[in-house]
Amino acid sequence: MTAPIVPILAETIALAVEILSEGGLVAIPTETVYGLAADASNPEAVARIYQVKGRPRFNPLIAHVASLEMAAREAEISGPARVAAEVFWPGPLTLVLPVKQGGSVCDLARAGLDTVGLRLPAHKGARALIAAFGRPLVAPSANRSGHVSPTRADHVAADLGDRINLILDGGPSEVGVESTILGFDGETPVLLRPGGIPSSVIAERLGRPLRLHSEADGINAPGQIKSHYAPKAKLRLNVATPDEGEGYLAFGPGAQVGLNLSPSGDLVEAATKLFAMLRALDARFDRIAVAPIPSTGLGEAINDRLERAAHRDA
Ligand code: TXA
Ligand code: MG
Repeated sequence: MTAPIVPILAETIALAVEILSEGGLVAIPTETVYGLAADASNPEAVARIYQVKGRPRFNPLIAHVASLEMAAREAEISGPARVAAEVFWPGPLTLVLPVKQGGSVCDLARAGLDTVGLRLPAHKGARALIAAFGRPLVAPSANRSGHVSPTRADHVAADLGDRINLILDGGPSEVGVESTILGFDGETPVLLRPGGIPSSVIAERLGRPLRLHSEADGINAPGQIKSHYAPKAKLRLNVATPDEGEGYLAFGPGAQVGLNLSPSGDLVEAATKLFAMLRALDARFDRIAVAPIPSTGLGEAINDRLERAAHRDA
């Protein structure tokens, strides 16, 4: 079955809200590129995004908001970040900010980090949808991993039509490249990804130069190891039976000890539990053994995450 393409109107927004509330995936227009949207608070829905895109990694996703008020419920927005939000939102700027207690964006969408990427899109249809939904939608570009980002509804249909529930058509994306991503090191703005708003324009309006992201930064850039939560404990992978004193991250039927990512062996369920269980074991053990996990489907991203955690000092 191919997802229907419908114009983004009041009635189709109501339909999209229903689908999203049930954990479905809806492609949405934005001014940068089309996004593949899911309920940011629903880990199963977020896992499905990684699955249908075929992403080999759990990169943190951008949570899209309908207003500054909605953003302020999710993150601490102060100093130069607040100035940037007031000047450039709505628009193609994403701000990476400290997550707020009680925020709704789930662990998996943030790849376990204590920060959240927020964006208030300029596209009116996108904003109307998020406002109707009432809380943030995560939306990476609506293409399969490794393919180019879609700027029209029919691009989405060609790439992902058979894997998602609905495509909202809001016309061609005007900007055509992804949003600029800005993080902050204290008061210093750091460019994490160039995009729709030139960094020189941001620097000028903030009245200070942007630092280019470097490995030395405590903060994270797309695709880098540091953009991931790293456990303090030492990890051992592909362990069928843990040693005495090791925490155990189990998978599949039969495992009687430790915490089980999915007793039924479901990789989508495992993805939704990965970060929370790693944190829970990390709090109690110096060493964690991890059961073998198949590398099919979401197993690829799960194993990528675990391998980075196991080899973080190498
Ligand atoms: O223009 C756009 O930004 C498009 C449209 C659909 O809005 N969306 C988009 O989303 O490009 P996505 O999920 O593909 O971009 C996510 C990028 C990742 O490379 C990720 O590393 C970075 O944003 N990011 C998100 N949250 C982050 C965080 N907490 N810390 C560091 N980087 C983060
Ligand atoms: Mg993309």
